[in-house]
Formats: sequence, structure tokens, C-alpha cells
Amino acid sequence: MATSKDTIWEKFLSPVVRSFIDEEGLRRYADSIDWEQESDRWRQSDVIMPLYYTEQNFHGINGGYLNSSAAVSYDPITQYVLLPNENVVRQALIDAVKVKPTRVLDLGCGTGSTTLMLKQAFPQAEVWGLDLSPYMLVRAADKARKADLDIHWQHGNAETTKFPQGNFELVTASLLFHETPRVICQAILRESFRLLVPGGQILILDGNQKTLRQLSWLNDIFEEPYIREYADDNLDARLGAAGFKAVRSENVWWINQVTSGIKPIPVVNGNMQDYARHTPTPINTTIDNNDLEDFGSPVFGLVR
Ligand SMILES: C[S@@+](CC[C@H](N)C(=O)[O-])C[C@H]1O[C@@H](n2cnc3c(N)ncnc32)[C@H](O)[C@@H]1O
Repeated sequence: MATSKDTIWEKFLSPVVRSFIDEEGLRRYADSIDWEQESDRWRQSDVIMPLYYTEQNFHGINGGYLNSSAAVSYDPITQYVLLPNENVVRQALIDAVKVKPTRVLDLGCGTGSTTLMLKQAFPQAEVWGLDLSPYMLVRAADKARKADLDIHWQHGNAETTKFPQGNFELVTASLLFHETPRVICQAILRESFRLLVPGGQILILDGNQKTLRQLSWLNDIFEEPYIREYADDNLDARLGAAGFKAVRSENVWWINQVTSGIKPIPVVNGNMQDYARHTPTPINTTIDNNDLEDFGSPVFGLVR
């Protein structure tokens, strides 16, 4: 893989992690795929790559996510980075789902690790994974095929997707926000708000902002160009600014956090507006947590 050589990651940690990784197996996997042909299956010619994405290296890989090296090396490395255990951390997002969705969108889905778990958790739901990198989508689609999971993959920018308004009951993003400048985070949150039905939920799994503020050396290790900006920010406040209610962040093993917010149901003349008027199709949404009773949520309009 084409890497820059001056980060602590590349100088010290990568050799250690690499000793745990079956590099020969990865090379065989990489060689088994015609990446240009396969990525062309996903590539949408009208997707414009933002500068923050193309002008930075991520994780020491030159060219960031727009190459097959990123797609092949992402999972083997991530399993050692998400402590205490990748599945435990990702499961925290699944456990925080308060709706029973019929349509789910995973923004910045990468190689689809969380997307696959969402489909396993909600097998009846139509699950979409969206990413700017067609190479990551090749890997994601391959994983879904091998796991026999029917997931839709979309090349696109999470700031401006082409999905209609109110198309999803659940929008998720795992490990996306620490890789985007603040202004992009806010744009993605605005778009998520647009995409959700009233009463729908957004869930963001990412680094714990309080913890990251104390770990400035992390940027040098992993070459994360925007992680300081992310750490110094306040995701709860950003969700509030985007219009979400019932915003809260829970720690996930000190180093990560899951942030949840709900798109409120408009209240007219003291009454919650008819939920069906705000959704493309009526859904049988249930919420299993009474913490959300303070504001409009579909469960209180439909199910009870
Ligand atoms: C650190 S990876 C996380 C991947 C995956 N969600 C996970 O949990 O492992 C960040 C991903 O976000 C994607 N990405 C970054 N900015 C994006 C944007 N504006 N729209 C869509 N995807 C984006 C990158 O291509 C990359 O695949």
C-alpha cells in the first residue's frame, strides 16, 4: 500500500499491527479483484469529490480513500483500533436504535461493517450504505455478498444525497465525523435531518470528544487531519443546531461515543400532526425506550 513514511503510525505502530495481519492473504485478496472495473460499477460520474477529502491523506495512505489499498487495509487495521473490540463498539450503535426502521441509511459506510450489522439487526428493513469512495463500496458489496445480505450501496456525498426528503426512519454514521471538517459535519447533519421522517432517529458512532481532547498525540499516530477539529467541537450542540431533539451522547468504553437525536414531529395547534402526512409510507414504528416521551415520536401516534 502506498503510505507516507513520516507518521508515528508508519514508523512505529504499523510494523507492530502488521505483524498480526496476514499481509500475504491481503495481497491475494487485492489481486483477486479488478478494482478499476469493479469500482466503475459503483462510480457515479456526477459525484463531485470535496477538497477536504481529496487533498488530505487519511491513516497515512496517500490519496486517502480513493484507491484499493484503503479498501483492502481498512478492516484489518480497524479491528485493532476500536477498543476493546470492534464488534462491541459497533454493537453500541445498534443497541441505541430506538425505532423499528423500514428504511435505514448508513452514511460514510466505508467497507460496510456497521451497515452489515444494521441489516442483520433489521432483516426486514431496506438498508442503504453510501460512501464517497467507490473502492470502499467494492469491498462493502463483496462482504455483503459473502454474508448473503441484501444491502443497497450508493456512491454519493453525505452532504447532498439524492434521496427524497423523509425517506428513512434511521440514519447512521460510524467513524465518519472525525474525518470531516466542522462545516461538513453540519452539512451532513442538515442533510440527515432532511432525509429522516418526523420521529426518525439519527445515530452517530465516533471517537469520544471529551477523551480525544486529552489525546492530542492521536493525530500524529493515525494521520487524522480533522480529528482535532472534531475533538474540540460538541456534537450534541451540532445536532441541536440541525433541529434534532432528545440529543444525548453515551460513552462507549471511554474512547468512543454514540450520539442520538430525533427529528421532532411538528406540533400544530397543540396537536401532533398526522404522522402519515410526513412519511412516504406508513410505518409500524415502535420505540422501546420511554425516555423519548417528551416530544413527538411515531410510537405515540401510531402504536399505543
Ligand atoms: C473512517 S471511515 C468509516 C467507515 C465505516 N463507516 C466504518 O465505521 O468503518 C470514513 C468513511 O467516510 C467516507 N466519507 C468521508 N466523507 C464523506 C462524505 N462527505 N460522504 C460520504 N462518505 C464520506 C470515506 O470515504 C470513508 O469510507
